[in-house]
Amino acid sequence: MTASQKNSEKAPAAAAAPGFEQSLARLGVTAESLPRHVAIIMDGNGRWARAQGKPRIFGHEQGAANVRQIVTECAALRLDMLTLYAFSTENWLRSRSEVDFLMDLLLRFLAAERQTMMQNNVRFMPLGRREGLDKRVLEEVDRTQRDTAGNTGLTLALAINYGARAEITDAVRAIAEKVQRGELRPGDIEPETISAHLYTAGHPDPDLLIRTAAEMRISNFLLWQISYAELYVTDVCWPQFSVEELHKALRAYAHRTRKFGDVPAPGK
Ligand code: FPP
Repeated sequence: MTASQKNSEKAPAAAAAPGFEQSLARLGVTAESLPRHVAIIMDGNGRWARAQGKPRIFGHEQGAANVRQIVTECAALRLDMLTLYAFSTENWLRSRSEVDFLMDLLLRFLAAERQTMMQNNVRFMPLGRREGLDKRVLEEVDRTQRDTAGNTGLTLALAINYGARAEITDAVRAIAEKVQRGELRPGDIEPETISAHLYTAGHPDPDLLIRTAAEMRISNFLLWQISYAELYVTDVCWPQFSVEELHKALRAYAHRTRKFGDVPAPGK
């Protein structure tokens, strides 16, 4: 099954995001061959900063600034969902000053970008554990989710204090509690049951996973959901991952043949 065949079942977007035709023309692929859900591991902020002779936090600041154009382009292309890995459960291991800077940056990002999200009909959704996050960060997260809840275009999922193993552990606990209460029989637990208890319940799995800055690893990101995602790794560091770089990834995706474990019929 090709990417375009899989997505031909996709329902048309209700509201036309501005710039759809222009973005698609510049991209040069058909709407049917676009992924529904793109997930990105935004890596290389530190390396990019070091190459400029600047401190790591300079890279994070530029990285956060870069998020806006990528979100705007994904909304313009009418993708259903974009998931960005902003802070992992393992990122707490970094120095106190870097963690504090990243938390402050997240807070400032959410406060500043709410308006852009509203303009682009973007619905915000956090992914991750709330425990451990500062009250002020949680307030911005909740406010952004509340304010954008009625938007119908792109869903922007921001993974904050996110780890796939923590997510799967939380899902297993919730399922075990249902079994204990007699609401669910162990034999009735199916892969769909697990999907329905993840933070991403009700959302499509990523079709395309992009990682910047050349690392060939998954880093505890969406382990369950990326089972059949197409992988795209670029040398470009996140602060320099432009709309053109996003287009390169989308063009590569459009030419992939997705098999989902099957053998495609000749000519497919
Ligand atoms: C990886 O760079 C970056 C992260 C810690 C996560 C991504 C964070 C941002 C893009 C900035 C904040 C985002 C938002 C949405 C406000 P790294 O420090 O691991 O880079 P390195 O591997 O080159 O050291």
